[in-house]
Amino acid sequence: MLTSEMIRPDGALVQVSDLEVTQFGPAVEVKNENERVIISGVHGAMVLQWAGDHTVRISGVRASWAEIGPLPSYAAVLPGGGPESSLETLETENAIEVSSGQLRVRIEKQTMSFIITDPAGNALTNRHQYYTGDNHLQCRGGITDGAQIYGLGETTGFLNKRGERYTMWNSDVYAPHVADMESLYQSIPVLVHHHEGKAFGLFVDNPGKIIFDMRANREHFRIDLETGDLDCYFTAGPALKDVVSRYTALTGRMDMPPLWAAGYQQSRYSYMSQEEVLELARTFRAKEIPCDAIYLDIHYMDEFRVFTFDPVRFPDPKGMITELRKLGIRVVPIVDPGVKMDEKYGVYRDGDRRDYFCKTKEGLSFQGEVWPGISVFPDFSDAEASRWWGDLHRFYTDLGISGIWNDMNEPSVFACESKTMDPDVVHGNNGMPITHGQWHNMYGLGMSKATYEGMERTLNGERPFVLTRAGYAGIQRYAAVWTGDNRSFWEHLAMFMPMSMNLGMSGIAFCGSDIGGFEHSTTGELLVRWTQMGAFSPLCRNHSAYKTLYQEPWRFGPEVEEICRQYISLRYRLLPYLYTAFNEASQSGLPIIRSLAMEFPEDPRGYTVSDQFMYGDSLLIAPVYRPETEHRVVYFPPGEWIDFATGERLEGGQHRMVHAPLEVLPIYVKAGSFIPMTSPEQHTSDAGWRDLIMCYFSGAGDFSSEYTLYEDDGSTSRYRQGQYNTLIFGAEEQELTLRLTYRYEHQAYGNRRKSVLLVIKNMASMPKSIEGLELIGSVSELEQVHQGWAYDALRKECHIRIPQQQLWEVVLNK
Ligand code: GLC
Repeated sequence: MLTSEMIRPDGALVQVSDLEVTQFGPAVEVKNENERVIISGVHGAMVLQWAGDHTVRISGVRASWAEIGPLPSYAAVLPGGGPESSLETLETENAIEVSSGQLRVRIEKQTMSFIITDPAGNALTNRHQYYTGDNHLQCRGGITDGAQIYGLGETTGFLNKRGERYTMWNSDVYAPHVADMESLYQSIPVLVHHHEGKAFGLFVDNPGKIIFDMRANREHFRIDLETGDLDCYFTAGPALKDVVSRYTALTGRMDMPPLWAAGYQQSRYSYMSQEEVLELARTFRAKEIPCDAIYLDIHYMDEFRVFTFDPVRFPDPKGMITELRKLGIRVVPIVDPGVKMDEKYGVYRDGDRRDYFCKTKEGLSFQGEVWPGISVFPDFSDAEASRWWGDLHRFYTDLGISGIWNDMNEPSVFACESKTMDPDVVHGNNGMPITHGQWHNMYGLGMSKATYEGMERTLNGERPFVLTRAGYAGIQRYAAVWTGDNRSFWEHLAMFMPMSMNLGMSGIAFCGSDIGGFEHSTTGELLVRWTQMGAFSPLCRNHSAYKTLYQEPWRFGPEVEEICRQYISLRYRLLPYLYTAFNEASQSGLPIIRSLAMEFPEDPRGYTVSDQFMYGDSLLIAPVYRPETEHRVVYFPPGEWIDFATGERLEGGQHRMVHAPLEVLPIYVKAGSFIPMTSPEQHTSDAGWRDLIMCYFSGAGDFSSEYTLYEDDGSTSRYRQGQYNTLIFGAEEQELTLRLTYRYEHQAYGNRRKSVLLVIKNMASMPKSIEGLELIGSVSELEQVHQGWAYDALRKECHIRIPQQQLWEVVLNK
């Protein structure tokens, strides 16, 4: 335990960011090599390259590099994306201007500080300047008065990062995650500066230690590097969505996940035997609580050796997995990087013989202690070692497993001061050795990449799912992220909101927290509130630690069970909406959990809201995150909102106190939105939505809106060859009519749908007529036919059933 001894008055700590630095300038030479421009200063050089029309890479390197060769790029950055045209330089008395595409960089000769503008000279970024010190490089960038800082990956604290300081250094943090924690499991060095709806992004591609300090100075942030170059990519917005989209064009986007991974998932450290796992699955089915996956934590293994099953606890994994599949449940086993050093263990022997483990500087395999005892660690910097590791997953895929959970991949190492590999451990890096200190933050990404690619190779076209604890920029291409060992604290429920919003602005759309909390035992009430929020989290997994109370949905009595069932079922009913949002993330990089600033850039009141979020672009979610609390304040951004549960209309642009007893999660729909739903199932099947219920939440006055629904088989990679559908739904509201349209924009997946049910919510009175459609007596009678309409006066809903066809148009006379 830490005591006051920590703050003894003797001795001061020198932080790396307090060290003396010198500016790069003045500039002494400009060299235009067409593809890049090198500006050499007295103390350092800047290399400018374009990575797309809206992204410029400005690398700061030490002056001693007289001849600058090609700069290394980490796996974070996708190849390609260079400029359309060669770079143009223009030198004036005081400045050098370099331009291409939509960006111009103007560098002051004296200081070598720079600003990025559009071709007309309008500033897109603030002024930045590079510095060099004894052993490190530094970047300073101006913070506009009243601006917010977003992004920076997985961090504790609130949404706006002004006044905070973070160290990018992947760390296994078991201590309770609190606001002054500088590092967690993921390091995503991307900072987003946002001011009055205008944003730019700065991504520092360096997997060594980086400190982002927004605290030391109010006017500028400081980025300090311990190793390597200051390899910065500036992405211009000005819209926040453009920044995220361009950053993910650079570092990649997620693939479509298998649909089952969007379902509810149950985990625990650990379900101890195959009987327990089967019993658990049967209980879900008996209780009619939807569930798609059960996780196997470390006890499934034979003495924690990865790629094994314990012969006593899990004597028949194949049988268990087959049985579970019949119940519609997948198994996701944990795989840690530590390979037990044991001559009798094939994986160890094989990896050792092939020389695939990380090395000490003396050239021996680095050994560290983790769950299995003394272990060695695969070298994921090396393509061959990674391929070997990936191929080992055939062990799981042969059993019918298609999801893997990567943990401890910071990597975490016990019983040593650094809690990870020694910084001087050497990674082979395909013949260009690099120290662990320089490569640390890439380790987890390397592991998940190897796993994902290996699974892809062995799954014959089935989509893999990988969940990871550690990662670096670009991790979204390979894995979903969960936020590690949180606790059953109300504060940690609340913390997930800003954390996930910032993960989203750092390119990570597929994320979730341990629902109910991992360490510290939960309560029924906390489980309910967390499950409600978790139902609207891209990854929805309940997980708890060894020795804590069991926290499956039924462990706290019938009331808790019933509310959890309802919200998990609601998640399943909303799967078409979530799945479409996943598709958007895979196409544009936009997250599923969005900050209000992203959806309402013109509204300053939303810029720092940390306790509610947008789920896609239409749903506003405002969880209750305090015990014994039935009310909370909700901020409604400008526009009109509709209470999802009651249909009540609420005027936006204001704060309101809302009533939310235990069974209520406040959910609001932006008026004029389409929300696709389906009938709840006990588990997912395909994403062709046989039962498609398209809800339209009518707006007021003249209004038009459009929604594109995405569907495919939900399980294979055939969507990449074009086997998917996109369906465009449109609405035009006028005083006397509401015109609804539908057409396939792309139709190459044969869903088996016979008809679509359109539900117009919030229709105060029954339409006079619907052109070309027959009025059917009641909503329940409508279920029996393929065509017609009915009005439910009690729920103020108009139901319209239309047969499946290429396109249609429905006109309601109000
Ligand atoms: C780590 C993981 C946790 C897991 C445990 C045992 O603490 O973060 O989720 O249950 O290890 O594998």
